Amino acid sequence: MLNIRVEKNVNPKPIPDKDNPLKFGTIFTNHMFIMNYETGKGWFDPRIVPYDKISLGPSAMVFHYAQEMFEGLKAYRAKDGRALLFRPDMNAKRTNLTNDRLCIPTIPEEDFVQAIKELVKVDEEWIPDREGTSLYIRPFIIATDEFLGVRPSNTYLFMIILSPVGPYYPEGLDPVKIWIEDDYVRAVKGGIGFAKTGGNYAASLAAQVKAHDEGYSQVLWLDGVERKYIEEVGAMNIFFKINGKVVTPMLNGSILPGITRDSVINLLRSWNIEVEEKQISVDELIDAAKFGALEEVFGTGTAAVISPVGHLRYGDNVIKVQDGGIGPISQKLYDSIVGIQLGEIEGPEGWVVEV
Ligand code: PLP
Ligand code: COI
Repeated sequence: MLNIRVEKNVNPKPIPDKDNPLKFGTIFTNHMFIMNYETGKGWFDPRIVPYDKISLGPSAMVFHYAQEMFEGLKAYRAKDGRALLFRPDMNAKRTNLTNDRLCIPTIPEEDFVQAIKELVKVDEEWIPDREGTSLYIRPFIIATDEFLGVRPSNTYLFMIILSPVGPYYPEGLDPVKIWIEDDYVRAVKGGIGFAKTGGNYAASLAAQVKAHDEGYSQVLWLDGVERKYIEEVGAMNIFFKINGKVVTPMLNGSILPGITRDSVINLLRSWNIEVEEKQISVDELIDAAKFGALEEVFGTGTAAVISPVGHLRYGDNVIKVQDGGIGPISQKLYDSIVGIQLGEIEGPEGWVVEV
């Protein structure tokens, strides 16, 4: 258990006006969490301090070799006023999965969750309550040794910042357009694709810019070797309903093990809807669309929640899904996940945690 000291912000910013729509990731609350690490000493000095700039040497290793990780989860305002987190233990576990891969020291899961809860409590009034809004929580760790050789750092900062957010896509729950990328790749097996680390997102930017220029919201990645099998979308895992069955790419080491993905698989199975985690080729998808068997496509993610996909493009092939509308499974999943997150529907035990 951490002994977290709190230094209150004496110049707090006002909470955003409730009537203004919240853009994703643009506003930050009045406080942040910081904890240091040093080899031989472990994690120390956990503190909640006013949100502010931090000072690092220009030679800090994170700037040169990207030894860093991040997470994403949300706090939700229930109708009865409670502040709720959704499966924060899963973010704690994934943090350590990422840390192990990047030679970053692990953090005890209970400390990770405690730090989030205490910070959210301090800025609790910032949790918005309008439909489709929440307080996005961004824990991250950076390597801070001032050193130019390549090796794991001996010092780190673990920080958490908070941002009141609306929908990730301007489309909201309206279906998004996705670009299937067959030139650039994001990750390969044995690499860092399964880890939540900035390098994966840096690798994704060129394709994302290309997709945006073509009028698409995000990229759907194919495997890095054959460029044949479907992996995931820029900030979401992907699901297809083909011939009555839901399929999603299996976790193969190069895609992020999404917490929303896991939750969706659980919910679908609890409704007796068959879900298969498997290798799915882009050709299989195009054939399914050609023969009218592709019933629904949706992405899953903390930021994106459940995001229906209405249109996919692969080279000259354009796949239209549900006539560009929202499919019944996507809608039911959205309503159920959001209902559970807001404490209105009872989910599986342990999914919702009060702050
Ligand atoms: N895949 C990528 C690349 C992501 O950035 C995200 C978002 O965090 C996801 C999938 C979905 O993961 P989760 O449901 O845990 O947010
Ligand atoms: C998420 O937290 O859902 C993310 O995908 C992180 C970010 C890329 C917005």
